Amino acid sequence: MASYDVIVIGGGPGGYVCAIRCAQLGLKTACVEARETLGGACLNVGCIPSKALLHASHQLHEAEHNFAAMGLIGSAPKVDWKRMLAYKDEVIGQNTKGVEFLFKKNKVDWLKGWGSVPQAGKVKVGDEVHEAKNIVIATGSEPASLPGVTVDEKVVVTSTGALELPRIPKKLVVIGAGVIGLEMGSVYARLGSEVTVVEYLDFITPGMDGEIQKTLQRTLKKQGLEFILGAAVQGVEATKTKAKIAYKLRKDDSDHTLEADAVLVATGRRAYTDGLGLKEIGVETTERGVVKTGAHWETSVPGIYAIGDCISGPMLAHKAEDEGMAVAETIAGQKGHVNYGVIPGVVYTWPEVAAVGQTEEQLKEAGRKYKVGKFSFMGNGRAKANFAGEGFVKLLADAETDRILGAHMIGPMVGDLIHEICVAMEFGAAAEDVARTCHAHPTYSEAVREAALACGDGPIHS
Ligand code: NAI
Repeated sequence: MASYDVIVIGGGPGGYVCAIRCAQLGLKTACVEARETLGGACLNVGCIPSKALLHASHQLHEAEHNFAAMGLIGSAPKVDWKRMLAYKDEVIGQNTKGVEFLFKKNKVDWLKGWGSVPQAGKVKVGDEVHEAKNIVIATGSEPASLPGVTVDEKVVVTSTGALELPRIPKKLVVIGAGVIGLEMGSVYARLGSEVTVVEYLDFITPGMDGEIQKTLQRTLKKQGLEFILGAAVQGVEATKTKAKIAYKLRKDDSDHTLEADAVLVATGRRAYTDGLGLKEIGVETTERGVVKTGAHWETSVPGIYAIGDCISGPMLAHKAEDEGMAVAETIAGQKGHVNYGVIPGVVYTWPEVAAVGQTEEQLKEAGRKYKVGKFSFMGNGRAKANFAGEGFVKLLADAETDRILGAHMIGPMVGDLIHEICVAMEFGAAAEDVARTCHAHPTYSEAVREAALACGDGPIHS
């Protein structure tokens, strides 16, 4: 048994970041993680491995579609799926070992095993009970189940199984046109699968700006993804190698089926708090297991905090990281804070999609007067040179004060470009502040400046 200032349960991006920050702030810290490697879903079966496959398959797409036009002649590379999966695993290994190194460097103890909380101030890992002045629950989320669908992670898979299908399926059906469905759907479409995305709503990527939704769908359709919208999946029947997907079209209640070699169920994730014993000690959760938190992420039991996917808010690694750092600061007696109005969202398709702040739909609903500054990547020299002219940057600013209220982008590397606007918003900047900032030429970032100029006297290059 050991005694700590803080024990963090869960070694994902919320938990490990929290543990490192606690240690940096002088607190004796341990992190409980049962997985063989640190990093949680994000590093092991989520963000990082999917980005490796997106990167590799994007290179193939470039070779097949753009190389010849640049004078790079020769047959396009062939896919060695086993090697590609091995590359993905190497990327995971480098990242998870990196976190282990950071734990050692910062003197965070890794308590290996499943953690539970027998009472406030105590954390049980295996047969050992450790003492902790503060406990942070950072146990994350798991794929949500869908009625009528049994996941076997071979033919009917979640995002986890989609990262290591035994072979590239000839036909892949994706249930859910959210972030996971579109990212993994893109990977397999680029690798040659016929991909059909079945979505309950009449549009893709719920919550995103409407114009972005339409543009992204059109772009992905050009890349070969088929969409069946307004379709509620009723069930999936699977054999060892095939699956039959039954869905109902909402507009007329008609029944339909699709056949596939693999089915990806990407219909959301649910908070994972099973087995912690929270209810027994009085930590309030919702019916769906989401831990209820008050100001500064404290639960209904003093000394027990919760962050990341297991509390409310967007299930995003960087939101969890921010909360992890802020709760560490709170525990250390500082003023931890997260600005939930400036949390970017990125979809790593090609082109990428990135958003921060409010959408036009939200501003209209709130009755706020706003102006729109928009600039197409077709007017950006660098994008044209790189066959990346598809997409645009849209900046939303207050009609009177010019304060930036939101940004919505689709285009090359916009997942990186969005942060210029995040910083601007954190500083309460006006569109004119961005417009008057010198941007290096030729870079994609000039499109952001042009969109800011479009909020004022107008862009130069359109
Ligand atoms: P999601 O919530 O983004 O999308 C799920 C989609 O499935 C929705 O569009 C929903 O309408 C649809 N759906 C639900 N039931 C259905 C049914 N019966 N038939 C047809 N469609 C149905 O969830 P997703 O993509 O599984 O992602 C889970 C979480 O992980 C999200 O919070 C997401 O933000 C996060 N994530 C973030 C990434 C990123 O930041 N790039 C990457 C991957 C995941």
